[in-house]
Amino acid sequence: MQPVESNPISDSNDFNPNILPDKSRKTDFWSHLALSMAERSSKGLGRQVVVSRPVGPTTIERNGHLAINFGANDYLGLAWHPELIRAAYSNSSPPNKVGSGASPLITGHSQIHAELVSSIAAFEATESAIVFSSGYAANLGSLASLATKEDVIFSDSLNHACLIDGCRLSRARVLVYPHCDTDALRRLVQDHRHLGRFAFVVTDSVFSMDGDLAPLSEINGLCEEFDMQCVVDEAHATGVYGHFGRGLTEHLNVPSERMIRIGTLSKAVGCVGGFVAGNQLLIDWLTNHARSWIYSTAMTFPNTLAAIQALSLVHSMQDERKLLERKATSIRLKLNNLGFRVGSGTSPIIPVYLHDAVEVIEKCQRLLEQGIYVPAIRPPTVPAGTSLLRISLSAVHSEQELTQLVSAFQQL
Ligand SMILES: Cc1ncc(COP(=O)(O)O)c(C=O)c1O
Repeated sequence: MQPVESNPISDSNDFNPNILPDKSRKTDFWSHLALSMAERSSKGLGRQVVVSRPVGPTTIERNGHLAINFGANDYLGLAWHPELIRAAYSNSSPPNKVGSGASPLITGHSQIHAELVSSIAAFEATESAIVFSSGYAANLGSLASLATKEDVIFSDSLNHACLIDGCRLSRARVLVYPHCDTDALRRLVQDHRHLGRFAFVVTDSVFSMDGDLAPLSEINGLCEEFDMQCVVDEAHATGVYGHFGRGLTEHLNVPSERMIRIGTLSKAVGCVGGFVAGNQLLIDWLTNHARSWIYSTAMTFPNTLAAIQALSLVHSMQDERKLLERKATSIRLKLNNLGFRVGSGTSPIIPVYLHDAVEVIEKCQRLLEQGIYVPAIRPPTVPAGTSLLRISLSAVHSEQELTQLVSAFQQL
């Protein structure tokens, strides 16, 4: 099998050789930027930040429109939970401080941070854990420090940008396999495993744009057969899958020996931050080598306190997890019946595929005018020709809000 050495998502990105600056002109750097931006916009690919005013657990205001929010990853509604808000903002919680003031190895790692580490290890049922300032930093720093240029990485073609960037930073040989295709992965591994001293399969567990699930049991089988580790990013699965909310590995009962499990506190957990949970040796390694942890200020106190509180709730939110799945199944069915091409599966991320970037923007705006916010996802976040509207559901969306969502799609 011919190996693919670059990731289609990130490499379809920002570099257009047709608009290279004219080297003979001195000011060309700025005209290059302007030209490049104009070209992006003309294709419907320009990005602009819009102020979203949070109004309630499922409501925002954007561009003057009050809308039901189907663009957040707050799958359990915890970002608005009174117990998290009390934990974060109550002045009675010591220490009465905002910033941690330093990176963890200097003075940033307080007793409260140590408590969060213990909470994550207990939540994940692992020996230890390490907390990063974001999920992005956790994936980036882990991959960059665990793999080296002596190694080989097999990476799913639709992996999240932070996994792609972590693979690149590691300087390992990266071979991309077609999305979730374990037959293709097997062939790639058979032909190329020998290239690496160590080998890794790297995958999201729930894919962030398509909402589908990685075949983790089969991947684990290949890891055992070919002596590889699997780095799995549970960002969208933490809190959502598994009886205790530990993610897809728990849901599928995948043995932990070959899994290096990364999660985020930023989605279902309702806060901000990323983590790796595993044995003490792994955590010691990351403590010594993960540069996005070593050289970055430890998380703020309010966020740390809220995350400890959140984890104690997420563990026992089985009813909310089931409710979320039922809502996701029902919305998929209803949109399918309306004739939309909708991503399959059970996750609360429901992509509605429309292909064309300009059309996606136009439909996003029409939904907003009907009081529904669903983000438009376009290249380079997804490969060219696969632009989509991404619905993210929360257990706290009411039945009435879901009915409004479906009828807004019906009117598109
Ligand atoms: C699959 C995946 N991994 C990691 C991240 C990064 O997590 P964080 O937002 O906590 O930095 C994201 C965020 O969108 C994601 O979708």
